[in-house]
Amino acid sequence: MAKLLTVLAYLCCLHVINAANILCIFPTFSRSHFYIGEGIVKALAEEGHQLTYVSPYKQKESTKNVKSVHLSELEKWTIEKRSTMNIFDILNLPPIIFIFFMGYMHLDIAEHTMQDPAMQELLNSDEKFDAVILEWMFNDYLQGVAHHFKAPAISAATFTAGILTNHISGNPSIYSHMPHVFSGYGQKMDFWDRTGNFMFAMTQNLYNKLYFFPQQERVLHKYFPDAPSIYELNANISVHFFNSHPAINGPLPMLPNVIEIGGIHIQPPKKLPDDLQKYLDESKEGVIYFSLGGNVNGKDLPRPQREAILRVFSKLKQRVLWKFEEELDDKPANVEVKKWFPQQAILAHPNVKLFITHGGLLSTTESLHYGVPIIGISVFGDQAVNMKNAEASGFGISLPYKQFTEEKFANALDRILSDPSYMQNAKRISTLLKDQFDTPAERVVHWVEYVIRHNGTSHLRTVAHDLYWYQYYSIDVILFLVSINLITIKIFFVICKQLCGRRKQKQKQN
Ligand SMILES: *[C@@H]1O[C@H](CO)[C@@H](O)[C@H](O)[C@H]1NC(C)=O
Ligand SMILES: *[C@@H]1O[C@H](CO)[C@@H](O)[C@H](O)[C@H]1NC(C)=O
Repeated sequence: MAKLLTVLAYLCCLHVINAANILCIFPTFSRSHFYIGEGIVKALAEEGHQLTYVSPYKQKESTKNVKSVHLSELEKWTIEKRSTMNIFDILNLPPIIFIFFMGYMHLDIAEHTMQDPAMQELLNSDEKFDAVILEWMFNDYLQGVAHHFKAPAISAATFTAGILTNHISGNPSIYSHMPHVFSGYGQKMDFWDRTGNFMFAMTQNLYNKLYFFPQQERVLHKYFPDAPSIYELNANISVHFFNSHPAINGPLPMLPNVIEIGGIHIQPPKKLPDDLQKYLDESKEGVIYFSLGGNVNGKDLPRPQREAILRVFSKLKQRVLWKFEEELDDKPANVEVKKWFPQQAILAHPNVKLFITHGGLLSTTESLHYGVPIIGISVFGDQAVNMKNAEASGFGISLPYKQFTEEKFANALDRILSDPSYMQNAKRISTLLKDQFDTPAERVVHWVEYVIRHNGTSHLRTVAHDLYWYQYYSIDVILFLVSINLITIKIFFVICKQLCGRRKQKQKQN
């Protein structure tokens, strides 16, 4: 009997933990994107699944159950390209240009991703995958990979669901309170903001229709000649992961296969190096951590701004840790500069009172996880929108780089360090983030296994994918009803006129 039970238990377990073979591709050359992919990969590998993680970053340590595929040519090409650019130069362009810039830039990236020898080797191998997780970053063509392996597709984005991605997820786009990520508006918009956001959205839609989708279609069929259309592949995606949480970005309407996994990249903080631990412990007045992230190089920061920042810091009683790529000759005594800091471990230290960031979503999420208020010097992308949300939730102050002055910076520091409500709100949201039914990692595991168990989620596919835009917004129905009404009114008047005319004729005759 006992033996039978053991065998039964074994068979049950076998069904549940059957290790799956999963492919995960994050082609964007940006540390923050890599970390989100890594979070997803780690969560699944720890459950015993076999992962193949494709990325332009060479992974240092090998993780159990993870095979990494390094897109080295893509990495080389991107580094060369980046070396000719100063991110602060982009600032002189109006934000709407970003719509065209991103679409165009990612077409170049698409070619270099597909032509990378490691990618070609993978596609020409006879590997079989049970599911394929693909980063969405202006690269609809990448769905061809899931089609190629005949495996259910899962998409993952490193930002919040919205106008950019709703064509793949089928989520509704409501322009009155969903700001376009490049617009810099918050969810609460006045009439002019709503007008601006509407124009952003229309520009995006037209650009997609006239240029972006046809180009994606071209790249798709260049590398996957027998794939169906982009529209069909997008509508066939089983689950969509987004790096967000309502307490950070505000609540949004979500279809059941759109899953928020904000915080997936957060790992238990590593132990601080001894010197840093001592420095933080001894800083009784508190520490300010300053980092503009991985894409925005501090060394590109123009000299006048850099000097202004140092002047403001020199007047503070707090100490400052500044992630900066160069030696600073004129730094005040209370400022420490290093090329790299263990950001999460620093934010976890109780003496850290403030994080000055570029407002990227990973930094914002980490800051909230550890309950530290932020000042956001947003530069580009979704940073301005994230900071608008931070202001609305009362844990941050937005100071867009374009509007940066020494006085405004000093004021923002003074306000956030003297008003305890910023810290209280950060702590309050921190408890909200930790009070979830399941962790982001558990959510990832559940949904990926669910997709594999059921061979995709066709039962969750919204029919919105099958409608033309004028059907989706009921424009055809509104036009029809308005026409019927106009015709009815017209007929009514014609009949009236006829009747009245007859009465008048009769009166005349009388
Ligand atoms: C999975 O579903 C697709 C259609 O969505 C079908 O063509 C395929 O045969 C199914 N595979 C399995 C193993 O059931
Ligand atoms: C659609 O997804 C299913 C599994 O979810 C997959 O089997 C099928 O090949 C996909 N269809 C296309 C056209 O790629």
